[in-house]
Amino acid sequence: MKRVIAAILTVCIASLALGGCAGATTEKTTPAATQSKAEAVSKAGNKKLTVGFAQIGQESGWRDAETASIQFYAGQHVDTIDFKFADAQQKQENQIKAIKSFIEMGVDVIGLAPVVETGWDAVFTEAKDAGIPIVLVDRKAKVSDDLYSTFIGSDFITEGQNAADELAKLLNNKGNVVELEGTVGASAANDRKKGFDDQLAAKYPDMKVIASQTGDFTRAKGKEVMESFLKTYGNKINAVYAHNDDMMLGAIEAMKEAGMKPGKDIKTVSCDGVKGIFQAMVDGEANVTVECNPLLGPQFFETCQKLKAGESVE
Ligand code: AHR
Repeated sequence: MKRVIAAILTVCIASLALGGCAGATTEKTTPAATQSKAEAVSKAGNKKLTVGFAQIGQESGWRDAETASIQFYAGQHVDTIDFKFADAQQKQENQIKAIKSFIEMGVDVIGLAPVVETGWDAVFTEAKDAGIPIVLVDRKAKVSDDLYSTFIGSDFITEGQNAADELAKLLNNKGNVVELEGTVGASAANDRKKGFDDQLAAKYPDMKVIASQTGDFTRAKGKEVMESFLKTYGNKINAVYAHNDDMMLGAIEAMKEAGMKPGKDIKTVSCDGVKGIFQAMVDGEANVTVECNPLLGPQFFETCQKLKAGESVE
C-alpha cells in the first residue's frame, strides 16, 4: 500500500512541476532505437532493465534535485531496474569513461547529461555499434541524429528570453547588465545566453550587457566573478543576469560584502528555482527566478523501458 501511494505521489509531483515549467519535453524520433531493435528485443529476455547514467556532478542545487529525482525513481523500482550511476565531477573525460564502462557492462540504455555540447561523436558511435541507445537528459549534445535516441529536458532559449523580459520590467527597459554565464560550452549556458541576447536585440535596445563571464554554474565562482565586476564597474551596474540561481546566490553575497543592497540597488534575474533563491526573494535580496524543472527521473526511466522493449519514442 505504501509503495502504491509513493508511486502515485511521485507521478503527481512530477506532473504538477512539469505543468509549470518552461517546457520539459521529449523530442525527436528514435533512429538509434530502431537500429538497435534486434538487440533490444534479445535483451528483453532479461527480466530487469539495466540503465547506466553519467551525471555531470554536484555543481548546483538544481543538479542535486535532478540526481535525487533519478535515484529516487530507481530506488522505488529495484525489483525491475538495475541502476548504475556515475558522478563525473564536471569533467567530460569522466563522463566518457563512464559511458565506456556502461558499454562494457552491456547495459540496456545509457543516460547522459552532457557537461558540454561537443566532443561526443566517438563514444556515442561506440554505443551505437554495441546496440545501446543513448538518452540525453537535461542538456543537449551536438551530434548527428542517428547517434542518440531522444532528448528529455527544458527549452533553455525560452528561459533566456523570459529572463530578458523579466529584467526589462525591473529596469523599465533601460540599464546596464552584467552576466554570469554557466559552464563554457554547455547547452544550458549557450542557449540561455542566446535567448537573452536575442530578446535584448529584438525588444530592448536600451538594455546593455556591459560584462559577461563564466561562473561555471557554482556559487563560489559566481561570487568571485561578481566581486571582480563590482571592482571594475561599481555603480554602473543596474542588474545581474545569472544562468543559474547558485551563481546568483554567490553574487548576492558579493554585493552585500561590497555594501550594496541586492534586489534593490542591483536587480537580479537567474534561472532554476532552487530553495535558496526563493529565500533570498522572501528576504528582499533577489527579484526573479525563471523556473527550470529538474524532476526528470520518471520520464527518463519510462523512456528507457520503451527503448528496451524496442518501441519508438518521441
Ligand atoms: O543544465 C541545467 C543547469 O545545470 C542548471 O540550471 C544549473 O543549475 C545546472 O548546473
